Amino acid sequence: MIDRTTIDRIMDAADIAEVVQDFVSIKKRGVNYIGCCPFHNEKTPSFIVSPAKGIYKCFGCGKSGNAVGFVMEHEQMTYPEALKYIARKYGIEVVEKELSPEEQQQNDDRESMRMLNEYAAKYFQNNLLNDPEGIAIGLSYFRERGFTDEAIKTFGLGYSLEKRDAFTEQALRDGYKLDFMTRTGLTIVNEETKRRYDRFFGRVMFPVYSISGQVIGFGGRILKTAEKTAKYVNSPESEIYNKSKTLYGLYQARTEIVRQKKCYLVEGYADVISLYMAGVHNVVASSGTSLTEDQIRIIHRLTDDITVLYDGDSAGIHASIRGIDMLLAQGLNVRVLLLPDGEDPDSFAKKYGSEKTIEYLNTHEEDFIRFKTRLSKTEADKDPLKRAAMITDIVRTISVIEDQIKQTVYLQECSKILEIDENTLYSELMKIRRKKIMDGKSPTGQTFPSKPEPKLPEPKQVPTATGNKEIGFLSKEHEIIRILLLYGNKEINNPLDHNRENPQRLKAAELLVALMLKANITELRNKVNQQIFKEIINAVINGRDISEKEFINSPDPAISSVAADACASSYELSKMWEKHGSTYYKEENKLGEIITDVYRKYVLEIRKDEKKRLSAELKAQMETGKKLKSKLATLEANWNSEDENQSEEIEMLKKESAENDNKTIEILKKINAITQEIKDLSITQGRVTI
Ligand code: CTP
Ligand code: MN
Repeated sequence: MIDRTTIDRIMDAADIAEVVQDFVSIKKRGVNYIGCCPFHNEKTPSFIVSPAKGIYKCFGCGKSGNAVGFVMEHEQMTYPEALKYIARKYGIEVVEKELSPEEQQQNDDRESMRMLNEYAAKYFQNNLLNDPEGIAIGLSYFRERGFTDEAIKTFGLGYSLEKRDAFTEQALRDGYKLDFMTRTGLTIVNEETKRRYDRFFGRVMFPVYSISGQVIGFGGRILKTAEKTAKYVNSPESEIYNKSKTLYGLYQARTEIVRQKKCYLVEGYADVISLYMAGVHNVVASSGTSLTEDQIRIIHRLTDDITVLYDGDSAGIHASIRGIDMLLAQGLNVRVLLLPDGEDPDSFAKKYGSEKTIEYLNTHEEDFIRFKTRLSKTEADKDPLKRAAMITDIVRTISVIEDQIKQTVYLQECSKILEIDENTLYSELMKIRRKKIMDGKSPTGQTFPSKPEPKLPEPKQVPTATGNKEIGFLSKEHEIIRILLLYGNKEINNPLDHNRENPQRLKAAELLVALMLKANITELRNKVNQQIFKEIINAVINGRDISEKEFINSPDPAISSVAADACASSYELSKMWEKHGSTYYKEENKLGEIITDVYRKYVLEIRKDEKKRLSAELKAQMETGKKLKSKLATLEANWNSEDENQSEEIEMLKKESAENDNKTIEILKKINAITQEIKDLSITQGRVTI
């Protein structure tokens, strides 16, 4: 944990323009900087950096945030990693909150292991490029495979000499501890003879990087394919290397995955490197093992769209297809891409070159479920006995998708492909769901109560299935937050005070908050907006000023992003957008009117929503009333004075019906009141113009 004082010092020191400039070329324009957005493809610059406010914002894709947020987004770092990165840049010593001696020891050990790996990677690279044996054997091998110098450098490739303890002895001479050499797996000690050997010898080396670029392990490939030893030897699992949580090539691919909003998944080291050389940079490998949930989560933090590349031989497809349900269950959009017979991505890219490869990728991918359905159909056509099992299998895959709309679309499509009635598929789906619920799983397959890991914040508030209504609320909420953050501390005349000579003065935030509280609105619907709003209410109640900086520098990146976004729309930045007809130009002078107007529009939305809810309630209430009355009529018509039970039932029904009537009237009254309020709000709204 980094303590608050250090975080504040880092935030104070960080000059957003300097931080951004390390990654993006930006030009000074007035008080701000402007450039092409690194988060989406664009030709005309709409990415703006404001050193005064300490924020960036892209008016094209909507991304915004402070310096730390920028580094997190661009480098795909965690919050502490980004803080440390900026601290290093400005020479600030990072004081971590006290760790226990054991924790400290662990940290130190891991750091030592990483340093040793770093050293080893350099050592292997140096062998490859400068040692006569390395050049003759390792480098010429890579050359034969067509690996360019640039690729060799980008992926840090190297060579481990044939002498069986060359690395170990050199590292010891250079002062590295044997303990760490065995813990990273670089060295193996024979228990009996105590002799030390290199794990990798006579192999070309592929270092494996963490997402932030530290070497955490190695893969070593044998050069002579005929030999009996395993083709690849990998570092063992260690305190710093967990194969199931690692994706090969992720460090090199991370920014491009975010930029292209897409990730290609391949099997091997060579596949990643060859595609990279062909200009496909958003590619990672699962390194031979089947994909794990952790690996999926890592990809999902960067993008929703993943395309899995399959070798041309269909033997491998069936085994790996099962793993893909996991991808779907996590909400990823999965596509598959089948390469021609006998090709893997590496051989394909070599054979056809960059242009044809990219074109092939762009034109041959197919939605996974459609792909699987077609594949199964071909097989079931050959063997009709398999048909029932095939249907269950496909519907099971569809059942893991959380999004109900997507599910429905898939059912329709699969019914067409399989030539099976949609209802048959639907009842199969219901059967699977019921079974999952009985087994104590959520309908999409995860065991309760595990929740999907929170995703990194998305600055743009994406409308959900609830549709346009939510967007209406969100845009108005956003406007409320924007006004509060930008102008909250400004003193204005109270527009509701009609004493023209000497109107009451108050802060803009006081006015807006007072209006909202009077309308009984203490909560905004969006969680992030609500957090900001709550803080602002607190500030107003305690007579404190609102500090936009505090929100911008919030350790919660979601808050920081919303605050930055709000502040970016101020006059300073919007000046650049005058050509688009800026409406913010003079808003400072019209705050009183703007606030009452925004407030009215928001309350109007809320009340209309309430009215809709009440109307539905009324309808239900009236239907129950009707049923009660008809039941009562039937009972009374068949009334038999002897039957006591019947009389009692009639009494009960009468009471129930009367209660229902009362409730109905109450709801009606509420609806009337709200209708009047809506009318009033709509009329006043017409008079106020911005
Ligand atoms: N792999 C491994 N250990 C092995 C074999 C394979 O770790 N003994 C992993 C490697 O990451 C390898 C991937 O599985 O890149 C795919 O294996 P394979 O297709 O056999 O290798 P290629 O990537 O095709 O390697 P090359 O082209 O160098 O033969
Ligand atoms: Mn290969």
